[in-house]
Amino acid sequence: MQHTLSFRKHLSTLAGLVLAVLGATTSPLPAQPLHTQDMITDTIDTATNGIIVTPAIPVLQIKADQVSAQVSPMLYGLMTEEINFSYEGGIYGELVRNRTFKASTNAPVYWDTVGGAAIALDTNQPLNAALNVSLKLDTSKASKNSPAGIANSGYWGIAVRPNTTYHASFYAKGKHFKGPLTVSLFHVDTNHPTLTYHISDGSVTKGLEAGSTVASASATVSKISSSWQKYDVALTTGDVTPSKDNQLVISTTKPGTFFNHHGTVWFQQVSLFPPTFNDRANGNRPDIMQLLADMHPKFLRLPGGDFLEGHQLDHRFDWKKTIGDISERPGHMNDAWGYWTTDGFGLLEYLEWCEDLNMQPVLAVYAGYSKNPKVIQAGPELQPYVQDALDEIEYVTGDAGTKWGAQRIKDGHPTPFPLTYVEIGNEDFFDKSGSYDGRFAQFYDAIKAKYPQLQVISTVGNDHPESMRVHSRTPDLTDEHYYKTQEQMEAQSHMYDTRSRTNLSKVFVGEWATRVGRPTPNMAGALGDAAWMCCMERNSDIVLLESYAPLFVNVSDLARGGSMQWPSDLIGYDALTSYGSPSYYAQVIFSTHHGDNVLATDSQDIPTHPWQAPQRTRNGVPQGGSPTPQQVPSVFYDATRDSQSGTIYLKVVNRQSTPQPVHVQISGVSAVEAQGTATVLKANSPEDTNSIDQPTNIVPATDTVDGLGTDFTREFPPYSITVLELKAK
Ligand code: AHR
Repeated sequence: MQHTLSFRKHLSTLAGLVLAVLGATTSPLPAQPLHTQDMITDTIDTATNGIIVTPAIPVLQIKADQVSAQVSPMLYGLMTEEINFSYEGGIYGELVRNRTFKASTNAPVYWDTVGGAAIALDTNQPLNAALNVSLKLDTSKASKNSPAGIANSGYWGIAVRPNTTYHASFYAKGKHFKGPLTVSLFHVDTNHPTLTYHISDGSVTKGLEAGSTVASASATVSKISSSWQKYDVALTTGDVTPSKDNQLVISTTKPGTFFNHHGTVWFQQVSLFPPTFNDRANGNRPDIMQLLADMHPKFLRLPGGDFLEGHQLDHRFDWKKTIGDISERPGHMNDAWGYWTTDGFGLLEYLEWCEDLNMQPVLAVYAGYSKNPKVIQAGPELQPYVQDALDEIEYVTGDAGTKWGAQRIKDGHPTPFPLTYVEIGNEDFFDKSGSYDGRFAQFYDAIKAKYPQLQVISTVGNDHPESMRVHSRTPDLTDEHYYKTQEQMEAQSHMYDTRSRTNLSKVFVGEWATRVGRPTPNMAGALGDAAWMCCMERNSDIVLLESYAPLFVNVSDLARGGSMQWPSDLIGYDALTSYGSPSYYAQVIFSTHHGDNVLATDSQDIPTHPWQAPQRTRNGVPQGGSPTPQQVPSVFYDATRDSQSGTIYLKVVNRQSTPQPVHVQISGVSAVEAQGTATVLKANSPEDTNSIDQPTNIVPATDTVDGLGTDFTREFPPYSITVLELKAK
């Protein structure tokens, strides 16, 4: 092995030399008609003590007339859950934080007072059974010069853009107070502090924070009723500078009615929406949706992840409480990730998200296991949860003649949604009681009896011991999760090549990521991802679906208890802007550049590098002997072909610090045009990355390249992911 390494080092140098002689450049690189035999020069390698060696460029054979598999039509998708402020504070358009005042029972967290007015939570004036608390504002000290009111700074800011209309709404009722109320967007001025309540790690603190002075937009509600009413106003900005340093303020200059100056007003569900993707009411943030649209995903695994199960049974995703009018949704503590969710982003919103991006839901249903751990054993006790899952499927797919289909129509969506896959739970390998086989069987039988066309997924995959897997039924797919380092991903980059084809269960890689870089992965992460995606794509006769996780992170507050619970996430954002990580662009490249047929390939002399897997430990104690050092590939590839156009998509990943020539030989076609395209994602160092301040440091570039054919050599840049589009006949 050592010999191979020094040999490969020499080879890169030599290849570089030859390329230099031939006038090759690295970026964008016209493919050079450089053949292995051209490299056979009398070169003295100092590393081999003067012995003349015949350098070998890695050779990659593509057998275009041998289709080894079909690329699964739904291979590339998304996985999602409420983590890292993915929905509230993320893709969900709502700009007000804690709009229903239920994030803490102690204080109106994330709300400020205006003009020193007294505010408090009030459980005696509920809006309804779901929103059973309200925010009470004492208006008695209000005056023309010092209005009394409430203010909200959103999720680490509220984005305000020029010439834009925002939709503000709230429920209110007054006592000795009839209005008016002014609703405004204020640009924050750090010179005027106001009192703010914050919640962090469960404790509430008060502090003086930036105040508000300049209104960007305002509207007035002239009359407030003495019983609960909903009020809606439009706030339209002028020529303001885009910023996130803004607050929503609702205030009054009137202390009370004419005869009584001790006015009180109660609020519930104070909401502010910007324009949304596809102009949906209660819709999504356009910039993040556009990033996703550019990935061309085929499915959305929802709603988790740990968010589906919760730590406590009561904190699971209880889908029936997430539908209907948003003012009737109680919300719940997302105890998996430690913050409140209003469930304004509920089941129908997930489905509409799918519809907007032309994806299918992969519906994960609660399966009687919460992380606490709470296990509901198979049998009569589990039956209500099985029924809940059947109802959920009916809500997604049913027509007007079904109870839950009719409910969906009532909720505003007449057309049923397409559905192929239902997943039973999430990561049930954590359930050490051994109950999953029985629980899975109960769900499987009920779903197959009513919906035989549905594919049912087990959450215990081949990455777990045989004894943990489902045996009493044959899951249509099993979900495997891989959170790895770059080297670990590379080491398993041929894993599915040797996976048994006789196993009747196909594979869903429902969560995976090369976890290098925080809050979003860097180029090393993208390289590990690309090595792994080559493996999945090459084997997509068995790997039918894959989704990276987690998808989102709000990068505004990366400290503990802040906006991130899980580092290394695909897409980052703050209140104003968003960006894709290098891993995101690797996903985009893979999902948008492939054919429908996987072509048989072969290779020789693929360079390798040494790697030793980390010692396994349990509670800090080493387990077993030291893992054996191994040679891991440094170049990864796969080839697919579009059966209609004939185009061959060759993906090559070079994880090394040096350019890598590869000799490509294509058989089984009559010709390949000399001109094609190369889409390349590359960096100068594996640590290079994108961030909220440098969002496009590393992005793919597509160029026309020459010198392609059925036999050519091309140099792949250091730290790069390349897709060559070869026009074959
Ligand atoms: O993706 C983050 C978490 O990792 C998911 O919620 C869980 O399924 C997995 O353990």
